Amino acid sequence: NKPCYILGIETSCDETSAAIVKDGTVILSNIVSSQVEIHKRFGGVVPEVASRRHVESITYIVQEALDEAKLTLDDISAIAVTRGPGLVGALLVGVSAAKAIAFARGIPLIGVHHIAGHIYANRLIKEMRFPLISLVVSGGHTELIYMREHGSFEILGQTRDDAAGEAYDKVARSLNLPYPGGPQIDRLAHQGTANIPFPRAWLEANSYDFSFSGLKSAVLNALHNADQRGEQLAAENVAASFQASVVEVLVEKTFRAVSEYGVSQLLLAGGVAANSALRQALIERSAQEGVELVVPPLKLCTDNAAMIAAAGTIQYQQGDFSDLDLNGTPGLSL
Ligand code: KG4
Ligand code: ZN
Repeated sequence: NKPCYILGIETSCDETSAAIVKDGTVILSNIVSSQVEIHKRFGGVVPEVASRRHVESITYIVQEALDEAKLTLDDISAIAVTRGPGLVGALLVGVSAAKAIAFARGIPLIGVHHIAGHIYANRLIKEMRFPLISLVVSGGHTELIYMREHGSFEILGQTRDDAAGEAYDKVARSLNLPYPGGPQIDRLAHQGTANIPFPRAWLEANSYDFSFSGLKSAVLNALHNADQRGEQLAAENVAASFQASVVEVLVEKTFRAVSEYGVSQLLLAGGVAANSALRQALIERSAQEGVELVVPPLKLCTDNAAMIAAAGTIQYQQGDFSDLDLNGTPGLSL
């Protein structure tokens, strides 16, 4: 049996990434060029700037991924590329590059959903055992997903407004912390006490949906009201209290789903998986409830092309290919 080498390409937001994954589980290379330093001064990702940077670097990043894997395009079985959701101009750069290579080399093209990619980052460290639940928390997404088998995704709940990472970034901004704010709040929270009673958005009794905009407003109001009184809330306590609210809701809803669906494996995915309080709470709860928790290393939690190649490998095996008229779809649903 010939090994399967998938070239993955990811350009949906502000990282330009290319990777080679062997047989869906072994990372031969995973080159990630982050634009975060460029976007920092604007306090967030500027879409047009992101697209231009992707255009400038994509061919070099793909070549670097091949070189590090000690392979050439002749060895590649198929090309997997993020087709959405994401910033349309940014997506188009990866999709166009993937189409060009697939056409030139006569190899299959596979359009991958970005969230499927985040979930399949887990398969790079652990074999998936079905049925399972995956909690996907990133700057653009907060989703609780049930998987019965490979390639099958049932969304149990999702955010109705801000994504978890987005809430972190907005609260960080109100505390005058630099972008991206998630890691900053995480760090600050460790120095503080969760002594401010911010709300928990449980929504309807049976709902697996999330909502973070009320919490974000509560934080902004608390800061504003203190300001009006000529006082200042300790930023570390605000961070700790905000984080306690986010983590409590994420963890409670996740484990309600784990027990309702009787799964034995729980996968964490997305950039907010880097959050130390969330990790800690999930580790403790999983141990209590006898569920296997899989948490990828940070480099695989944030946007990267190895996760796209991993998800693409399943589609490759299932013969789920894309035509050369593949387009980037900003609001693609799973
Ligand atoms: O998955 P990702 O790299 O990009 C998206 O697809 O959105 O996630 C980035 C998000 C940002 O909002 C960032 O603030 C958040 O993940 N993040 C964190 C932490 N590290 C990154 N949020 C909370 N705690 C962290 N330690
Ligand atoms: Zn992402």
